[in-house]
Amino acid sequence: MTEERTVQDSIVETVHMVRPNHMNAAGRLFGGMLMQWLDEVAGMVAKRHTRSNVITASVDNLRFIHGAYNGEMVVIIGKVTYVGNTSLEVRVDTYVEHLEDGMRHPINRAYFTMVALDENDRPKRVPRLVLRSVEEKAEWDAAKKRREMRMKRKEEGF
Ligand SMILES: CC(C)(COP(=O)(O)OP(=O)(O)OC[C@H]1O[C@@H](n2cnc3c(N)ncnc32)[C@H](O)[C@@H]1OP(=O)(O)O)[C@@H](O)C(=O)NCCC(=O)NCCS
Repeated sequence: MTEERTVQDSIVETVHMVRPNHMNAAGRLFGGMLMQWLDEVAGMVAKRHTRSNVITASVDNLRFIHGAYNGEMVVIIGKVTYVGNTSLEVRVDTYVEHLEDGMRHPINRAYFTMVALDENDRPKRVPRLVLRSVEEKAEWDAAKKRREMRMKRKEEGF
């Protein structure tokens, strides 16, 4: 039987408190620190979905909307949006959560392409994705377009 999982099966949510050692010289969260946290979330989502080793093949549409500051809580949520043959796309959304009202303000959205590896470190087929909602179907369609753009960029050497 074909292996398959839902989007919910592999969702990951992490929370970090921004501390002085996470800051850049401009007094905000260092972008490289955030990228590490995002890559870790994307990796965990992909591992949950594939139950295998995974690698990051590409990251795109990283978009820093606002900064985050010392003492703030950064919430990162990753979920599968699309599966190909040996790769899958993981959308990772980042928010700053304000303590006063609990509201989450978006600060970043990124799309990771992760590739599953077999025991010989070769790309291996990933489980199918079961789409349960209209939103998940819309995400899938948008991810297909992003995948086509990525392949075009690859072909053209961007
Ligand atoms: C990712 C990697 C395995 C792709 O190698 P490849 O020879 O192109 O392999 P394949 O052609 O079999 O592609 C494997 C999958 O990766 C996808 N892929 C390859 N290059 C890609 C790119 N630039 N962007 C997005 N996806 C890509 C392919 O579409 C394919 O997915 P599919 O099976 O769902 O269609 C290879 O480039 C690699 O090992 N890179 C290093 C990754 C790494 O070490 N990451 C850690 C951070 S440095």
